[in-house]
Amino acid sequence: MARLIYSAITSLDGYVEDKDGKFEWAAPDDEVHAFVNDLERPIGTYLYGRRMYETMIFWETVSTGPEQPAVARDFAEIWRAAEKIVYSRTLQKTSSARTRIERDFNPDALRQLKAASGSDVTIGGSELAGQALAAGLLDECHLFLNPVLVGGGKRALPDNVRADLELINERRFRNGVVHLQYRTSF
Ligand SMILES: NC(=O)c1ccc[n+]([C@@H]2O[C@H](COP(=O)([O-])OP(=O)(O)OC[C@H]3O[C@@H](n4cnc5c(N)ncnc54)[C@H](OP(=O)(O)O)[C@@H]3O)[C@@H](O)[C@H]2O)c1
Repeated sequence: MARLIYSAITSLDGYVEDKDGKFEWAAPDDEVHAFVNDLERPIGTYLYGRRMYETMIFWETVSTGPEQPAVARDFAEIWRAAEKIVYSRTLQKTSSARTRIERDFNPDALRQLKAASGSDVTIGGSELAGQALAAGLLDECHLFLNPVLVGGGKRALPDNVRADLELINERRFRNGVVHLQYRTSF
């Protein structure tokens, strides 16, 4: 059975974007980026909410020439190799290879996908991942806490969900980011 994993780069007060929709403070430096690449490398399928997909589509066409930092070239190749499912009621067509659209979040279909997948599955952004957490389908949550308070915006974790988590790993990076890895299903 594949694991379903949610990773989010957040402010210390728990937001993935601020009140103006900005998240430039979340851009990973090379050390964090390399760590994220290693987390993403074994993933077979990415599940995206439409908003996160529209952010990540950048990686489909970004140059992978020598002018790019090695971590960005590496991530572009990882991203392009994975299968993608975009959840949206409005998106008319996808703009990347290996990508299909789902019109509804169906917990049973996701349970079947986990059972059938030979490699782990990730889910993001926060609105879509919150539904998986609420449905009891999330197995792991990775938070990258940045040393910044943004005071409001889009929360990384949903309201009205009560869950006990087990901390299974943590790491401190030179730029002050802390990675926390939690098991969310037992
Ligand atoms: N902190 C960071 O490192 C970072 C990185 C990248 C992006 N971001 C920010 O984080 C935001 C992430 O987005 P988000 O958490 O607001 O949203 P999201 O989960 O990525 O996308 C929300 C959209 O997904 C679709 N959706 C959600 N539930 C659905 C369901 N049950 N059935 C069908 N479709 C469903 C809807 O699309 P439709 O409206 O099309 O129906 C909804 O508007 C980005 O926009 C960006 O600003 C932050």
